[in-house]
Amino acid sequence: MAIPAAEFARRRRTLMNLMGDNSIAVLPAAPVRVRSRDTEYLYRQDSDFHYLCGFPEPEAVLVLLPGREQGEFVLFCRERNREREIWDGYRQGPEGACEHYGADDAFPIGDIDDILPGLLEGRDRVYYSMGRHPEFDNQLMGWINHIRSQVKTGAVPPNEFSDLDHFLHDLRLYKSSAELKVMRRAGEISAAAHCRAMEVCKPGLYEYQLEAELHHQFAMAGARSPAYSSIVGGGANGCILHYIENRDRLKDGDLVLIDAGCELHGYAADITRTFPVNGSFSKQQRALYEIVLAAQQAAFEQVKPGNPWSAGHDAAVKVIVDGLLELGLLRGERAELIESGAHREFYMHKTGHWIGLDVHDVGDYRVDDHSRVLEPGMVLTVEPGIYIAPDNLNVEEKWRGIGIRIEDNLAVTADGYENLTVGVPKAPEEIEQLMAAG
Ligand code: GLY
Ligand code: MN
Ligand code: MN
Repeated sequence: MAIPAAEFARRRRTLMNLMGDNSIAVLPAAPVRVRSRDTEYLYRQDSDFHYLCGFPEPEAVLVLLPGREQGEFVLFCRERNREREIWDGYRQGPEGACEHYGADDAFPIGDIDDILPGLLEGRDRVYYSMGRHPEFDNQLMGWINHIRSQVKTGAVPPNEFSDLDHFLHDLRLYKSSAELKVMRRAGEISAAAHCRAMEVCKPGLYEYQLEAELHHQFAMAGARSPAYSSIVGGGANGCILHYIENRDRLKDGDLVLIDAGCELHGYAADITRTFPVNGSFSKQQRALYEIVLAAQQAAFEQVKPGNPWSAGHDAAVKVIVDGLLELGLLRGERAELIESGAHREFYMHKTGHWIGLDVHDVGDYRVDDHSRVLEPGMVLTVEPGIYIAPDNLNVEEKWRGIGIRIEDNLAVTADGYENLTVGVPKAPEEIEQLMAAG
């Protein structure tokens, strides 16, 4: 199920072919981050670094040297250390980096000052993502300056710097069949967790208790962590787009909006469902819900190769504006309302994003000043919503404090899309049925 070693090798090969001879790419691993005082957050590898080798440890630097005879893939990493391993866990060491992660050569990270300048020297172009790891930026410039200081004795410093993201993030945008397999499973696990939340939900539970049900289900299905901080917002909390406090009690008569997905082998799922805390939609809730559901369906129909990425958003906005006009929440002419952005009072975000190793994945949304054209292998979310602020005095009171979003993950196929997150219901009757059976 995890990505095979041969695929990591293929990714490095493809990137090196794009980079061209006599260049070098340098990528540091993600740093360990402190949570408080001497406790740390659970370590998560940098997605770019992971994409190219799968090596799971911090304090590592990956170097690619296309055409280098002694080996094109060099990894610096922590040495084995019995004392440290007793406290902090097993380390691969340079031996493990070669044996298990395909490095041609591996060195202790402590030796990088002595070795990396020699690898940079004589290479024309350096591929690097400047500005993402400020400390490492300085280190890299230090090594370059060291080579520059030796020009008189014949050293040849690189004379060109290129943004690594340009090639690498474009590769990451197209998912292989192995990646799709993992993402399909992440989608299934996350869908099952949303079903569980619907089944156990009842008035009086705390939002964080519903969150715990989701995380329990993720872990029991083999995905230890959520891919991002889960959002569980009851009532008006559903109108706060990034509500992660999850601290209130769920009230009878309110909706609850859950935006949560697991991470599996580094890949994210990102599902949102909105359902009634007591198991039955009220008239107003259902009216708005039906609009969001229709908007999502309209956006789905735009997901196929050859269509621009923006087509889904445009389709969703039209359905939302029509629906709000019909309910009297907007007044005027559809085209004018869209033109002036009047709908943003109720729908203020885009209809989706790329998804992969990062929940908001890499890859350009615009190319040559046009919306990106969809191609098979791209994976995106489709997530329209309607949010009526609790203090919105422009609408009747009965609408206030209702927040709804419905989100699924679609993989673009040869002739349309595959919904990776179909396993959780979203038709109101189906939701009510599942909740009644729970
Ligand atoms: N969970 C973040 C998003 O839906 O974009
Ligand atoms: Mn989401
Ligand atoms: Mn999303």
